[in-house]
Amino acid sequence: MTELSPQANVGDIASNLPGAAEVFRQNGISFCCGGKLSLAEAAAGQGLAIAPLLEELRALEAAAARTAPEETLPLIDHILTRYHATHRTEMDWLIPLAQKVETVHGDHEEAPLGLTEALVALRDELESHMAKEEQVLFPMMQQGGHPMIRHPIGAMRHEHETAADLLRGIEHATHGLTLPVGACRSWTALYTGLEKFTGDLVAHMHLENTVLLPRFETAA
Ligand SMILES: [Fe+2]
Ligand SMILES: [Fe+2]
Repeated sequence: MTELSPQANVGDIASNLPGAAEVFRQNGISFCCGGKLSLAEAAAGQGLAIAPLLEELRALEAAAARTAPEETLPLIDHILTRYHATHRTEMDWLIPLAQKVETVHGDHEEAPLGLTEALVALRDELESHMAKEEQVLFPMMQQGGHPMIRHPIGAMRHEHETAADLLRGIEHATHGLTLPVGACRSWTALYTGLEKFTGDLVAHMHLENTVLLPRFETAA
């Protein structure tokens, strides 16, 4: 996990801490290509003081720890309904909508070129990832653990990093979810939907990385 400090990388923070992406967008901090900057460098680049920014991010970290059931079985049910099912429903309409916006506005200079491709790659990755959790890892956990559970846990952590990289591609293609002046309703609905979906995905992975997986890593 990324430690929150002035030296932490903004791209890592954005893809690991629920709500951080929105704080960065509001402050004009880019975390796709510019994501290689440290928090201190990114703040200096925008003429922002580092202390209040860190404080805002620390508040998000504290809030993220309080949003899910404590017991393992209800926690897994919560992840399945609140995140896995929700991602599937939202990707089902976000991908055709992205395709429509890219096709209709392809010659607009702020068009989200490459967005559909980035979303399809993320959907394929997530479908395979969530299926492994649903069919292998979560059943092991529901049965109280397994002597080999470290292996699927390690693989899931690795796949979360892959998904975080794919999220950066979406941020890049949409210029940080910035709508052009006079954007049509489809384009607006697309970015609103993407903000919800990408925020959910960060929250989902954060919950697994920081709450669910460590429970079984320490027990194993
Ligand atoms: Fe999951
Ligand atoms: Fe996961």
